Amino acid sequence: MIAILANIATLEKKQYMQKKFKRTLITSALPYANGPVHIGHLAGVYVPADIYARYLRLKGEEVFFVGGSDEHGVPITIKAKKEGVTPQDIVDRYHKIIKDSFDGLGISFDVYGRTTSATHRKTASDFFRRLYDKGEFVEKSSMQLYDEQAGQFLADRYVTGTCPHCGNEKAYGDQCEKCGTSLNATDLINPKSAITGNTPVLKETFHWFLPLDKWEPKLRQWILEEHKEWKPNVYGQCKSWLDLGLQPRAVSRDLDWGIPVPVEGAEGKVLYVWFDAPIGYISNTIEALGDDWERWWKDPETRMLHFIGKDNIVFHCIVFPSMLMADGSYNLPDNVPANEFLNLEDDKISTSQNWAVWLHEYLEDLPGKQDTLRYVLTANAPETKDNNFTWKDFQARNNNELVAILGNFINRAVVLTHKYFDGAVPPVKTLETVDTQLIEDIEKLKGEMTEALDTFHFREALRLAMDMARAGNKYLQETEPWKVSKTDMDRTGTILNIALQTCANLAIAFEPFLPFMAAKLIKMLGMGAISWDMLGKFDLIPAGAHIGNPELLFEKIEDSVVEAQVQKLKDAKEKNRLAAWKPAEVKPNVEFETFEKIDIRVGKVLECSKVKKSKKLLQFLIDDGMEKRTILSGIAESYEDPSFLVGKEICFIANFEPRKMMGIESQGMILSAVNPDGKLTVISPSADVVPGASVG
Ligand code: 2FM
Ligand code: ZN
Repeated sequence: MIAILANIATLEKKQYMQKKFKRTLITSALPYANGPVHIGHLAGVYVPADIYARYLRLKGEEVFFVGGSDEHGVPITIKAKKEGVTPQDIVDRYHKIIKDSFDGLGISFDVYGRTTSATHRKTASDFFRRLYDKGEFVEKSSMQLYDEQAGQFLADRYVTGTCPHCGNEKAYGDQCEKCGTSLNATDLINPKSAITGNTPVLKETFHWFLPLDKWEPKLRQWILEEHKEWKPNVYGQCKSWLDLGLQPRAVSRDLDWGIPVPVEGAEGKVLYVWFDAPIGYISNTIEALGDDWERWWKDPETRMLHFIGKDNIVFHCIVFPSMLMADGSYNLPDNVPANEFLNLEDDKISTSQNWAVWLHEYLEDLPGKQDTLRYVLTANAPETKDNNFTWKDFQARNNNELVAILGNFINRAVVLTHKYFDGAVPPVKTLETVDTQLIEDIEKLKGEMTEALDTFHFREALRLAMDMARAGNKYLQETEPWKVSKTDMDRTGTILNIALQTCANLAIAFEPFLPFMAAKLIKMLGMGAISWDMLGKFDLIPAGAHIGNPELLFEKIEDSVVEAQVQKLKDAKEKNRLAAWKPAEVKPNVEFETFEKIDIRVGKVLECSKVKKSKKLLQFLIDDGMEKRTILSGIAESYEDPSFLVGKEICFIANFEPRKMMGIESQGMILSAVNPDGKLTVISPSADVVPGASVG
């Protein structure tokens, strides 16, 4: 645990931890409502935010956990155009899918709102107007990309082109997803309109800019001096932005989807999605709490935390705080524990390529396994570097950890209590060293867990919770109540009491991580309300109380289940490949005389077999109408059983220069066609043709 703090200024961290707040406002990035959420979003943002919210609630702290859908921005309008529906149709569809799937995974938002709500429209509009009236914006004209055919300016994702930093030819007008650089559309080399595919022209337009440079000194002081305890990835990214020098940033766009700029003469202009989205945290609070919202945003005794992925750092640490400072009446975030990215089966998650595990599909495909996903995503959380999710690891962690360690311990304690005491919790008689050792271990683990959770080290906290279960298993192994029961029921009772109290401790320790399991366990043990204070105590279930029947908390996941998921991913990849396939460009024209030089004929396959020691070559014996000839062809990988070709008529080039391969002379070339999947197939005439017939 000490090691966790080693790379951060320990003293500053301690001082920070001692700062007392009355309540905590937790925000989690509002996902774009143009697609469902996937495991990358969950591991990076929602599962850690939920763990933290649940942990604070267990500590009895006042918490408000805000979520919601981000329903503006260009990708939504592009998707709507593609499908021939309205942007509102798109966001209605995905808002519901996202909200329901978060519910399904037990993400315990206090509110889950949306940025197309009337409350949000008013809140964002008023926010802009306040800053406008205070003179916080700079109005500027500039040349922007314009699609003449579509009659539209091309903001953000409406334009693609080559990234000037890394050469990626598919960079967007707001960001290059390959190198992560944030871009202006006019930075792109060889820009193309995403609407018509045309090359845009430059046309003058005006926008309102937030002068981030004005806030730079304050931001430097606030982040670089006063928040050295922030995670190194967050602090480092902020420092490099600040060291590069901040520029004014446009907060409006020429679009018809978004919140209209509330200023006269701003027809056709809407708020930039990154201006309105973070205000969504405020609107959603208002939506849920009405007049009570202000103390969550403006009382200095409220602590605000933003849970986000690394691609959102600049917006939450630089842009939104500048907006809040420009207003002047809001708190700034106290911490922004951003995570890195999660990869899937060693490849970057890609929504457009369908290389993702979608939450709503997971909940359907693996019903009742919410906690397994929460566990695996936390155990592999990309807290300090990008991390990887594989279905094999998912299965192993479920079977070897949740089933074999946690589930097994609880099951043994409950089953043995039923076996020897009819389900009545036996009293403790005398404690032996092995008992006090376990009690001390759990208490120590609680201290370490608390420190890990307080500093957003959720992987570590989960590992420590699992260590409690490990300690329980070790205890039963050492005390062997099934043997002791033969001679000493008092001692057996003491052991099982301690084991059951350990189960009760596990219900508390795991509640933030595995809330479904915890709820079942709490019910099984007949516990009432739980709190973090109770963790480490060994009088959580009174002697004499009856516990419920043993219920399996986790079940083994079979190979077939994860194999089906891997196959689903492979199928998605294959589908993409086929969808992306285009026929090769037609080669330059040739004269008839050139074509005539090639002697194509029909032959009948007499024999066909794989060439020994070659993966690729098939050896054909062909009846060419005059004699038999041997031809080698590199199509073996496409024909599992080459005898299938015997008796078939095929086309071949009869005057191809003979050449030797693997010591065999090939006297011609078999013609074949290649499919997008790389599979080759020989060319046969559509009706019977005599061997030796010319093709032309
Ligand atoms: O990156 C995203 O998915 C954004 N929709 C996050 C917005 S966070 C907040 F500002 F609303
Ligand atoms: Zn790039």
